[in-house]
Amino acid sequence: MSQYDVIVIGAGPGGYVAAIRCAQLGLKTACVEGRETLGGTCLNVGCIPSKALLHASHQLHEAEHNFAKMGLKGKSPSVDWKQMLAYKDDVIGQNTKGIEFLFKKNKIDWLKGWASIPEKGKVKVGDETYDAKNIIIASGSEVASVPGADVTVDNEGGVVVDSTGALALPKVPKKMVVIGAGVIGLEMGSVYKRLGAEVQVIEFLDHITPGMDAEVQKQFQKILSKQGLEFTMGAAVSKVEGTKSKAKVTYKLRKDDSEHSVDADVVLVATGRKPFTEGLGLDALGIEMTKRGQIAVNDHWKTSVDGIYAIGDVIEGPMLAHKAEDEGMACAEVIAGKHGHVNYGVIPSVIYTAPEVAMVGATEAQLKEAGKAYKVGKFSFMGNGRAKAVFQGEGFVKMLVDKETDRILGCHIIGPAAGDLIHEICVGMEFGASAEDIALTCHAHPTFSEAVREAALACGDGPIHA
Ligand code: NAI
Repeated sequence: MSQYDVIVIGAGPGGYVAAIRCAQLGLKTACVEGRETLGGTCLNVGCIPSKALLHASHQLHEAEHNFAKMGLKGKSPSVDWKQMLAYKDDVIGQNTKGIEFLFKKNKIDWLKGWASIPEKGKVKVGDETYDAKNIIIASGSEVASVPGADVTVDNEGGVVVDSTGALALPKVPKKMVVIGAGVIGLEMGSVYKRLGAEVQVIEFLDHITPGMDAEVQKQFQKILSKQGLEFTMGAAVSKVEGTKSKAKVTYKLRKDDSEHSVDADVVLVATGRKPFTEGLGLDALGIEMTKRGQIAVNDHWKTSVDGIYAIGDVIEGPMLAHKAEDEGMACAEVIAGKHGHVNYGVIPSVIYTAPEVAMVGATEAQLKEAGKAYKVGKFSFMGNGRAKAVFQGEGFVKMLVDKETDRILGCHIIGPAAGDLIHEICVGMEFGASAEDIALTCHAHPTFSEAVREAALACGDGPIHA
């Protein structure tokens, strides 16, 4: 029987990062993963493959809409769907093999199979049982069913699919209905719209991307509508009937309870995810759970059972790969007797459409609710030379700062490279920066990041280019 200091269950961004940090800190570490490849949902069927398809379809959009304007003439490219999927699979392979390499480099044993915890201090994989002084559960999440609706997902069939199925459709559909205007629905809806599908998004709420700043939600929906996505808002999907090649989606409009239906070649169910804890044996162990089915942990990621920790999508908080990674590193440090810490107030959120959307910290609505006195500094990308040069003048940077102290409380960006620009603000917030600190920092010209500086200037004496 092998004995480990730490066994991590799950090799997604939370688990593999935790395992690497444990090994770096001198702990004898193993990681259990039942998939054929490491990397979890993120690398295999989530963040990474969707970014490949977003990139490819964005290039097509550029060729169709902007090449001629720049004097690049010629027939615009056509879509070889098989090749696009092969490119996506190649990207996945490069990334998952990268984690395998990192495991070898750090002398982490990959225990292949699905884990259970028969008792405290033991992890069972197949017929083997291993001793572990510490166990980190990082088993991630799975697609949740549509609340109150009759929907059966069949990814193999390729008609009623979730995000996994949407990354490997047999062909680009003529008509796609997306249920849910959250991150997955809008990223994948954008991909198929650009590839030529007619895309209708049906959303329960009256706004898209719940949790984002209201101004961003409005502008984002306007831009996506202009790109051709059709939105049916305030509509609760109640039923999806699928056949071999088509599906019928039934929904009720909340404003008048009227029932409607729409046919589609593909229906993408994107109404949220839930923690994945099946088969771990948590009940028998008596591990405390939250009301929402997450594993309850304290601020050191300890569960109610000694020596068992949990991180990532199985615990509370946003289901984001980078949140799981941070928890993985911090949890490893706690186990090694150091001071692991995650600042939950500074976790960015990004949507990788074109334009990108990014946020960190508080929204305006949250500040109002908290009764906080704040100032807004806003700058449009129309005033940013670099953005105009690449046809990306739509969107803005909106900074929210404390009215008294000028300290940055939140930032919301819709525009080019928003997902990268947001990190200047994250670093600033970690250091307790004021808008003036950003405004007084020299930003290279011409860069998109000048728009962030201008928004900071807008919190003070005013931006230059507006
Ligand atoms: P989500 O929670 O972001 O959005 C789901 C949407 O579905 C909500 O707007 C909700 O109001 C709507 N909805 C629920 N029931 C409905 C019904 N019956 N009819 C119509 N609309 C309904 O969930 P999503 O997009 O599935 O993403 C799951 C998780 O994965 C999220 O936590 C997200 O943060 C994460 N994720 C993050 C990405 C990123 O950071 N770029 C990319 C993909 C996923």
